[in-house]
Amino acid sequence: MQLRRAVLVGVVALACAGVPAVAAAQTAPANNLMPVPASATLDTNSLALDARFGVKVDGPSDPRLHRAVERLLDRLTRLTGIPIVRSGNVTALTIDCPRGSLGAQRAVEDESYSLHVSSGGAVLRAPGIYGALRGLETFAQLVEQSQGGFVVRGATIEDHPRFAWRGLLVDVIKRNLDAMAAVKLNVLHWHLSEDQGFRVESRIFPLLQQKGSDGLYYTQDQVRDVVRYAADRGIRVVPEFDMPAHTLSWLVAYPALSAGKGPFELARTWGVFDPVLDPTNERVYAFLGRFIGEMATLFPDACFHIGGDEVNGQQWNANPAIVAFRKRHGMATNDDLQAYFNKRVAAILKSHGKIMVGWDEVLHKDLPATAVVQSWRGQNSLADAAKAGFRGILSNGYYLDYMWSAARHYAVDPLGKDAASLPDDAKARILGGEACMWAEWVTPETVDSRIWPRMAAIAERFWSPATVADPGDMYRRLELVGQRLDATGVLHRVNYEPMLERLTANGRTDSVRRLVDLLEPVKDYNRGRRAAFTSLAPLNQLVDAARPESDRAREFRRQVDGLLADGERAAGREAITATLRQWQDDARAATAEMGSPLLQEAAPLVTSWARVADLGLKALDALERRRPLALTADEASALTTAQAPVADVLLMVAPAVKKLVDAAK
Ligand code: ACM
Repeated sequence: MQLRRAVLVGVVALACAGVPAVAAAQTAPANNLMPVPASATLDTNSLALDARFGVKVDGPSDPRLHRAVERLLDRLTRLTGIPIVRSGNVTALTIDCPRGSLGAQRAVEDESYSLHVSSGGAVLRAPGIYGALRGLETFAQLVEQSQGGFVVRGATIEDHPRFAWRGLLVDVIKRNLDAMAAVKLNVLHWHLSEDQGFRVESRIFPLLQQKGSDGLYYTQDQVRDVVRYAADRGIRVVPEFDMPAHTLSWLVAYPALSAGKGPFELARTWGVFDPVLDPTNERVYAFLGRFIGEMATLFPDACFHIGGDEVNGQQWNANPAIVAFRKRHGMATNDDLQAYFNKRVAAILKSHGKIMVGWDEVLHKDLPATAVVQSWRGQNSLADAAKAGFRGILSNGYYLDYMWSAARHYAVDPLGKDAASLPDDAKARILGGEACMWAEWVTPETVDSRIWPRMAAIAERFWSPATVADPGDMYRRLELVGQRLDATGVLHRVNYEPMLERLTANGRTDSVRRLVDLLEPVKDYNRGRRAAFTSLAPLNQLVDAARPESDRAREFRRQVDGLLADGERAAGREAITATLRQWQDDARAATAEMGSPLLQEAAPLVTSWARVADLGLKALDALERRRPLALTADEASALTTAQAPVADVLLMVAPAVKKLVDAAK
């Protein structure tokens, strides 16, 4: 089954701070800190960093400090690839901060701190919260690679600022709304609750965000700000609160709403979980009545998405009272029970002037006629909904987290396939489509590169006449749009180089970059099949740096196809030969650049790259001499290996080389 999972958080709430410079371990340690502290002595008596790294805060508790510590742990994980566990840690850093928060931050605050790091541990002393926050940033900058692991550089630092006012003007996730507007998109579907987190502040049921969010949620003010920002750009904001399943984060706070027995914990993995609301419990509807009433005011759009996907029914089947309820009401299946639930929820929505939107699982004869069905499981379910009289939107084929090429998404049409043969009135009920960027495998650092520029191709599908469908021309324009999107502030390109630098531990990235330029993440949901992943996994791997679509691999494919179609074109052959020779050189150089711990699992890719380059040249030579190419068993096996995923990425030029080889055989 296809699974969809988490909500990306922190795009508004969390600033993604710059990554500190990391130097290779040296005997005379350099001061890499920026800004340079008022006074700093560095030494080699460093603190080892491992998965048990823990932080203890002494002094009055300030939630901002605790959040800063969480951010530090996240950043250390991102920087080092070490998944720092959050329980049973050994205190390695003690923060001594005797003064807690004294209200809102003023223009002049005491921001001084001292920091001492040695092999026995680290102590950060600050008279107040602001000094503690600054000191934590310094601490993060002291982390460096050392002999196959990571350490915090030994240091004695006394620090305070020269100027009290040090500003930056910046505007963050709204950047995606600007980019949406640039390609004429008009709906932001804001997925706000999942098994892994509840991401919006409820003032009526504050336990939802207090217990269900790990502290990562949007306040109502932030929501209003985003809604306002979107409205200015002609973009609607449709919130999704997924129910009755995918509700673990609600049940952590309100276990009595569940069909099964609590207590519950937030999910740290992805998938379909059993916990589900109890549709036979009147308290559930009383809760939803008040909750939806609150959210209905916060989100002014007429549409309100209730999810409705992936109810596995386990807890309903296991609860005798629910089974009896079903019998009493003549419901043959759990689908009927979910339809009953949806009908009750639709009535609540209606009382607040809202129209229900749901994933295609909500489709049922009892679904209120005004409902809008969003099809994720197939184009057939969209056609079924339209035939049954419902309005619908297509998402199947537009999952950006599948890492498909822009051309593949571009070829999907809301009125294609099963919908093409519908009568006109049913066709008219298909309102359009929506791309989905599910956030299991993204961070604020990578998310833009997963959305843009491919989203622009889908946006064109939603706006332009169906006859606008030539992928070659789409790519030509996509490149230009992709460049211009930079100006809207989206970060789809700018994080690539810093991620490569981090992967190579700030070594040279030239040839590694030329390799990664030819890679793509594995497709569909194959990432994570290789090993067990959790929501705490650092998303700083090669697969995170690799872009969803390799322009260079696409260009190479085009050249190979051109040559094979017209073997007499000497210019084409020369270009391919030059590329293959360059790969031979680059693969040799990359071997030296791949020494960093983060790249170890990717080493076989370099071998494959070199083999593919050799074999491509051999094939070209055989083609030119018109002598059939015979591969050795070892060569054939290398070619097969080159086409298989390594470290969750694919060497996208391998299939084109195989084409050359096959043609030369
Ligand atoms: C979904 O992907 N489960 C809507």
